[in-house]
Amino acid sequence: MTREYRFTFGQFLSQVHLQKKIPPADAILRHTNTVSASRSILVCDTHTRAIALGIRGNLDIPLCVLSPGETAKGWPAVEQILTTAKEGGLGRDGLFIAVGGGVVSDLAAFGASVFMRGCKLCIVSTTLLGMADAALGGKTGFDLLGIKNLVGTFYPAGHIYLPLETLTTLPRREWKSGMAELIKTALLDDGEMVNTLKNLGDEFLRGDLLPKYEEPLFALIAASVKIKGRIVEADPQETGTDRALLNLGHTFAHALESSAGLGNLSHGEAVAWGLVRSGELGHHLGITPRERAVEITGLVRSFGYEIAAPHPKMGDKKNFMTALRGDKKQKAGKLRFVLPASRGALVVEDDLIEPRSLVSLINGEYALCY
Ligand SMILES: NC(=O)c1ccc[n+]([C@@H]2O[C@H](COP(=O)([O-])OP(=O)(O)OC[C@H]3O[C@@H](n4cnc5c(N)ncnc54)[C@H](O)[C@@H]3O)[C@@H](O)[C@H]2O)c1
Repeated sequence: MTREYRFTFGQFLSQVHLQKKIPPADAILRHTNTVSASRSILVCDTHTRAIALGIRGNLDIPLCVLSPGETAKGWPAVEQILTTAKEGGLGRDGLFIAVGGGVVSDLAAFGASVFMRGCKLCIVSTTLLGMADAALGGKTGFDLLGIKNLVGTFYPAGHIYLPLETLTTLPRREWKSGMAELIKTALLDDGEMVNTLKNLGDEFLRGDLLPKYEEPLFALIAASVKIKGRIVEADPQETGTDRALLNLGHTFAHALESSAGLGNLSHGEAVAWGLVRSGELGHHLGITPRERAVEITGLVRSFGYEIAAPHPKMGDKKNFMTALRGDKKQKAGKLRFVLPASRGALVVEDDLIEPRSLVSLINGEYALCY
């Protein structure tokens, strides 16, 4: 069970290896034309250290072990990575191998993009969210001044490994987080992926059941890679609206995460809730057909996500509205919503939306029967 994909993002070529097994370092060095192990470093966090050690085997590759999670996604982690590279004697032909979820890959990718003005990068993704989204597409970065991904670059990895075997140790909460991004991508395409998702239930979100669900999981990640790859190829640096489509549900999700208090909800739980709100707002505006909005709600609910408006963990609604208006995707003072259309999705700016509608939406007045 292996599939390979190649994408061109501007001047970069990314090769994706979707496979069951975790790749050993000698295979990674060969694929990346890295002449010796001493020209590379492995970057992981304390939860993915065992996977990184397995990849390293008996090769002499320096290991940079970061603290896990979003709270560690700051400048000190970047400095730790750059220091490991310098002390390891890497030059411009050096290779950074990220082993972890989106936090590790965003940090290591940022490090690779600035070390000696850019060295080689490979990502071994170990979370569902990483495989469905973060590993592909070249966005790197870290959080600063309390703002997520305030600093970053576009620097796609040359090789991206998505080894399903790593997911067996992933906690259920992290499965759920990644699942919401898979649902989002499926809604952007409306192809076979939606049907595959409809045949699964929330039992699927248990890592110990991976052997039972290996085939649909493989199919879902493969489809997600193709869809995201195609969107990013069309708009690698998000200068148009194509790449913004990947933010379906995210304007609501970011506001919910912020009003609930960072860490009280996983990103995926917030995205899932945001997808339902996007369908309802789209329906209210005449953009989303009723049956599609109902289908989205049913799909999200089948994976056990909270779909009610207002969300029970939302906290003060005023804080939610403030966070919504402050969403960083504001361009030229406008707030952008990505809403499901008859097929795929559309970007809509807030001058088409009465502020009162947003209040009605989060009060549950646009909820549909299903
Ligand atoms: N670059 C992009 O395009 C992009 C896209 C989406 C999200 N992101 C970023 O990704 C980050 C979220 O990614 P994430 O959800 O993967 O978070 P994460 O990297 O923090 O991983 C989640 C948790 O799972 C642990 N973990 C990872 N792999 C594991 C495994 N195989 N077994 C057990 N535990 C494991 C991690 O240590 C962490 O505690 C955010 O910072 C977000 O900004 C980036």
